[in-house]
Amino acid sequence: MLGSIAMVAVCCKTTHPVATAKSSATSSLTPTPYSPAESYLTPVPSDLGIAQKYWPATTLDNLQQGYSIYEDKCTDCHEMKMPQDFTLEAWTAIMHKMARKAKLDSNQYQLVFQYTLTRREAILSSGK
Ligand code: HEC
Repeated sequence: MLGSIAMVAVCCKTTHPVATAKSSATSSLTPTPYSPAESYLTPVPSDLGIAQKYWPATTLDNLQQGYSIYEDKCTDCHEMKMPQDFTLEAWTAIMHKMARKAKLDSNQYQLVFQYTLTRREAILSSGK
C-alpha cells in the first residue's frame, strides 16, 4: 500500500506541469538572432502600394522574387547594399553596371530594380 503511493509520487514528478512550464520558459529565453539589415531588406505587404505607383502590375511575389535574386546574385562580391544609401539616379546607374557583373537576365534585372527602389522608398518614408 505504502509502496504504491511512493511509486505514484515518483512517476508524477518528471511530468509535473510546473516542470514542463519551466523548461519551455527556459527555451523561450534563447535569443533569436537580431539582424537589422534583414528587417530593412525583407519586403512587406505595405510595399505594394509604393511599387504599384510606378509599376501597377507588381505583386508581393514579384518583390519577394526581387529580394531573393538580390540576396543570391548581388552578394558574391560585397555585402548587401542598403537601398536607402543611394539616390534614385544613382541606383539606375548602379543597376546597369551591377546587373552586368551579376549576369542578370532582363527579367531578373526588372525584379531586382523594382524591389530595391520600392524598399528604398519604404525605408525612407518610414523615417528610419
Ligand atoms: C562580380 C562582382 C559583383 C557583383 C556580382 C555585384 N557587384 Fe555591386 N559592386 C561590385 C564592385 C567591385 C563595386 C565597387 C566598385 C564599383 O562601383 O564598381 C560594387 C559596388 C556596388 C554598389 C555601390 C556603388 C557606389 O557607387 O558606391 C552597389 C549599390 C552595388 N554594388 C549593388 C549591386 C547589386 C544590386 C548587385 C546585383 C544585381 C551587385 N552589386 C552585384 C561588384 C559586384
